[in-house]
Amino acid sequence: MGKTLIFPCGVPAARTYAEAARQRGEATIAASSLAYDESAARFDSWIFLPSVYDKDFPGRLNAVIAEHGIDRIFAPVSAAHWGISKLIADGVVAVPLIGEMPLRQHAREHAELIEQAEERLASIRTISEGRSGLGVIEVAAVLRKAMGFFGESDEAKIAAMLAIFADAPRGDIVEIGVLTGRSTCVLEMMAHRYRIGPVLAIDPWAYAESVQQESPSELQAMVDVWEARVPFETFLVELLPIAREGAFNYLPMTSRAGHGIWSAKGEVSSPEFGTTRYGRDIAILHIDGNHDHAAVKDDVDLWLPHMGSGGWLILDDYFWLHGTGPRRVGDAILETRAADISRAFVCGRALFVQFGPKHVP
Ligand SMILES: C[S@@+](CC[C@H](N)C(=O)[O-])C[C@H]1O[C@@H](n2cnc3c(N)ncnc32)[C@H](O)[C@@H]1O
Repeated sequence: MGKTLIFPCGVPAARTYAEAARQRGEATIAASSLAYDESAARFDSWIFLPSVYDKDFPGRLNAVIAEHGIDRIFAPVSAAHWGISKLIADGVVAVPLIGEMPLRQHAREHAELIEQAEERLASIRTISEGRSGLGVIEVAAVLRKAMGFFGESDEAKIAAMLAIFADAPRGDIVEIGVLTGRSTCVLEMMAHRYRIGPVLAIDPWAYAESVQQESPSELQAMVDVWEARVPFETFLVELLPIAREGAFNYLPMTSRAGHGIWSAKGEVSSPEFGTTRYGRDIAILHIDGNHDHAAVKDDVDLWLPHMGSGGWLILDDYFWLHGTGPRRVGDAILETRAADISRAFVCGRALFVQFGPKHVP
């Protein structure tokens, strides 16, 4: 595989490259233009190279290439990438430069994000029957935020979530099953955008209270790879910068226990988000907790009676590879509540149901 020179090595992309190279058995040598570089210890070996602006740089670079048998250069800083690519173009340096110049990489990723946001906006307009006033930059902002960290809801479901806000009444937004907060971020950003009402996120963030008996045992065992505090802390990290003061909160408990507090007091406090008052009429209910049939049914039986006129239910994993709990509960709602349902569709594997009178344009 030969050897790769990583220069300069003080940025996160250098460490990511070195780690991936280590895993595939590719030798690397890191370099930077600092007399003392605190990032040096993170690499297998490190050497000093002058700055690309230094007149000695081409000579020193070629000496390093010869001495260490370098086959390619990875330059994760734009100025270094630019300088070395010119030396290669001028025939001064003979080994290839790999990877994209960071400025170009950012421009490409931005173009991809906007293209994806435009595609999603088209489906948002279709689902909302033209009523969504969101623009492409707003959709891009939500996608970038929500898809930028670990989570489970996909872009198709997020787009449908964005669409239904165009039609949602005022009221509480309740989410059962938060994990790291990907869908919670979307609900909070849209609640703010459309001034719908306060958001309440409920999750026990504890394995003992959330075992899915009906899922394959492999799926149950998989969660053990991380400690339960990891998704909870990720949720705080992601929501703290965007949560509205006094209009966002969470309950670290099961849906049933959370329902007891919300319905009795209508007030929730936490050290991170302070105190939030809830009106106890639900505008949007996202059920994405324990997917066992009995648990989904319990969530629906507890929370759906609080749904306000025109409110939306999002029942996640209506189409699900690992079990039929959400599907059976969803089908029962579609059948028994048919007379109260104004719209229903499936998107991104989730069932979206609006209760109450049909929208009259
Ligand atoms: C599929 S994940 C949620 C994914 C999240 N909504 C997203 O979009 O990324 C399911 C979550 O439900 C939680 N959960 C399990 N049982 C629950 C219960 N009884 N009440 C509330 N949440 C529960 C689990 O702790 C887990 O974090």
